[in-house]
Amino acid sequence: RKPISLPRLAQMREAGEKITMITAYDATYAAVADAAGVECILVGDSLGMVCQGLHSTVGVTLDAMAYHTESVARGLHRAQGTAWLISDLPYGSYAESREQAMRSASRLMQAGAHMIKLEGGGWTAPTVQFLVERGVPVCAHLGLTPQTVHALGGYRVQGRDDIAAAALRRQAIELQEAGASMLVLEMVPAELSRSLTQALASCHTIGIGAGSGTAGQVLVMHDMLGVNLGRNPKFVRNFMQDAGSVKGAIEAYVRAVKSGEFPDDAVHAW
Ligand code: KIV
Ligand code: NA
Repeated sequence: RKPISLPRLAQMREAGEKITMITAYDATYAAVADAAGVECILVGDSLGMVCQGLHSTVGVTLDAMAYHTESVARGLHRAQGTAWLISDLPYGSYAESREQAMRSASRLMQAGAHMIKLEGGGWTAPTVQFLVERGVPVCAHLGLTPQTVHALGGYRVQGRDDIAAAALRRQAIELQEAGASMLVLEMVPAELSRSLTQALASCHTIGIGAGSGTAGQVLVMHDMLGVNLGRNPKFVRNFMQDAGSVKGAIEAYVRAVKSGEFPDDAVHAW
């Protein structure tokens, strides 16, 4: 497989092929995910919960993100992997100023990321533009944005009513205009994310708990393997149950997303 690039992802979108993404936090699992055929690997700040035992992503530092990004990048390199590597800018590392965001993004790009992800809309658009103009590909993230869980009042579905849906749509379009080339939509109604996907031509939507109408899907690896400390949210499927290995489970996830069999809007969506 040729290295995954932004033009390649745009091509897939054009051809109607779903984009697959999964989180990884270390060298070995990153290499396994790559070998299983996912196009995108996300070093998510969910590593706060998954690896560090935190209650939310708010406590994750830029140092921690750089450490895990380096590990994943080395794993991919050693395995001659081809996945597109995205790394989360953590809480407090991009809100002060565009300059602070660029400094933080540089740290993760130098750790081996190909793209950074940041949460929120509105005030983030100028920041996204600043980064994109300076050669940093950006993935935005709207809907349930876990770094602001305390302001949102919990892990709940976003964009349910007309006003919230309209605000989300406005923010998504602003982010595309600012140059974001991907957009994670987390816990939003399937109908809304489907219509957003149609409205965004150059920005590829990646859903998690957002139904089947997005350009791609992402899951936290430990959730889809059924290895976690809490209860799985309704949008997750355990792919390990019927697989003989971790690689097999991730291959099944890739197949299910590509075929449109996962997510099932009757089971996994709002
Ligand atoms: O940190 C993370 O794992 C994420 C995904 C759930 C999109 O941001
Ligand atoms: Na995240």
